[in-house]
Amino acid sequence: MPRSRAQPRHHHCHQHLSQKVLHLRKYYKWILWFALSIYLFVSTTSSSSSPLFLPLRLKPNLPARALIEARNPSSSSSSLPKVYVYDLPSRYNKDWLSNSRCSSHLFASEVAIHEALLRYPGRAADPDKADFFFLPVYVSCNFSTPNGFPSLHHARPLLSSAVDFVSARFPFWNRSRGRDHVFVASHDYGACFHAMEDVAIADGIPDFMRRSIILQTFGVRSSHPCQEAEHVLIPPYVQPQIEDEWSVPEKMRRDIFVFFRGKMEVHPKNVSGRFYSKRVRTEILRRYGGNPRFRLERKRSGDYRAEMARSVFCLCPLGWAPWSPRLVEAVVLGCVPVVVADGIRLPFPETVRWPEISVTVAEADVGRLETILDHVAATNLSVIQRNLWEPTRRRALLFHLPMAEGDATWHVLRALEGMRHRSQLGPRGTGREAV
Ligand SMILES: *[C@@H]1O[C@H](CO)[C@@H](O)[C@H](O)[C@H]1NC(C)=O
Ligand SMILES: *[C@@H]1O[C@H](CO)[C@@H](O)[C@H](O)[C@H]1NC(C)=O
Ligand SMILES: *[C@@H]1O[C@H](CO)[C@@H](O)[C@H](O)[C@H]1NC(C)=O
Ligand SMILES: *[C@@H]1O[C@H](CO)[C@@H](O)[C@H](O)[C@H]1NC(C)=O
Repeated sequence: MPRSRAQPRHHHCHQHLSQKVLHLRKYYKWILWFALSIYLFVSTTSSSSSPLFLPLRLKPNLPARALIEARNPSSSSSSLPKVYVYDLPSRYNKDWLSNSRCSSHLFASEVAIHEALLRYPGRAADPDKADFFFLPVYVSCNFSTPNGFPSLHHARPLLSSAVDFVSARFPFWNRSRGRDHVFVASHDYGACFHAMEDVAIADGIPDFMRRSIILQTFGVRSSHPCQEAEHVLIPPYVQPQIEDEWSVPEKMRRDIFVFFRGKMEVHPKNVSGRFYSKRVRTEILRRYGGNPRFRLERKRSGDYRAEMARSVFCLCPLGWAPWSPRLVEAVVLGCVPVVVADGIRLPFPETVRWPEISVTVAEADVGRLETILDHVAATNLSVIQRNLWEPTRRRALLFHLPMAEGDATWHVLRALEGMRHRSQLGPRGTGREAV
């Protein structure tokens, strides 16, 4: 770098200035102080108002600490990547929104991330200037199956057709073979697109997506064919309005010790050799169904959020897949999540620091649930509850519109920043201005 060019160029006026310098000498302390104040003022204001960021939408009761934590300099927002959002025909996305469930159910991060990126100030208008390319395809919106669950049969053909669409019209897919392209696969087993694990594993991730980046809710610590692609773990979708609808006070009286509402089969179905929830939910019901300290309900109806807000511990056992939207709901409603899903990986661990806000119980130990939770209640429950109330953690689990600094979409962008080596533009700083 030709740094020498930047030498001070005021040699010639040195003589002239020396008189004045003498004269000003007795005021130098004041000048120094003044200059320092100006410097500090400018540096602090510029670092706290990055052009890439919309102001944090603070709720009136949110402590100022959230603001400070969210703006910690190590997560400087100005370094987030530029993302080009493909403008696909509406049959790939918008048409599905005619069903209102499409943008609110547990897989709706595919819609929420798309909408947040459309309004993201770092969205690249010019694809030649983009670090990453986002393919907005909504595959979870076909609720045609009799049980009301989405049919994923059309996911592969719809995505494959979208890839054909962009690779025929733009040079970017072929250029990187999709390596800098980003998809959302928010279902049970991510980009394997099947709710049953054995079928999901047999089908695997479609060939055309294997080199791309997948934003997925599914994650386990062991190796698994459904996470054998570059990916970012994202939280299950819960509408961010939950925070406004349920502004639960921190010291809310919680009269239910343990709560769970959801599918608990007395005789778990043996679908292709696998039992629902690996029998964990059945075991919970069998052991604690008659225990007055446990509120276990099998019916979907009822306002389970009100019940969560009244509960100390909220069970989050695996279903078909290990993850559950209850994880997010429990955190937002101040109920300590009890994770029963061996080997699960959870989103944004550096920010949420799950072990500090939850209790993990091994699937095999579910019969000792009451003893384990009694022990926590007698020892460190208050520490866990205090941690649970830190706003930065819950913020990371919700997708706001527009995106807010520190929210789930923001964390996705920060994770993409760490994958910049996949981008054709290369790591930051190589011949491109940060805009
Ligand atoms: C929705 O799913 C059903 C069942 O897989 C399928 O027959 C139908 O074609 C799908 N609809 C669309 C518009 O893809
Ligand atoms: C990208 O590759 C595909 C398959 O080889 C080809 O059909 C398509 O025309 C290419 N796209 C561009 C923009 O050259
Ligand atoms: C469940 O499926 C497995 C494998 O197909 C089979 O061996 C087992 O007997 C089945 N159990 C029940 C209770 O149907
Ligand atoms: C609470 O105590 C349990 C042991 O009972 C321990 O496993 C867990 O890490 C502790 N959690 C916190 C946040 O201190």
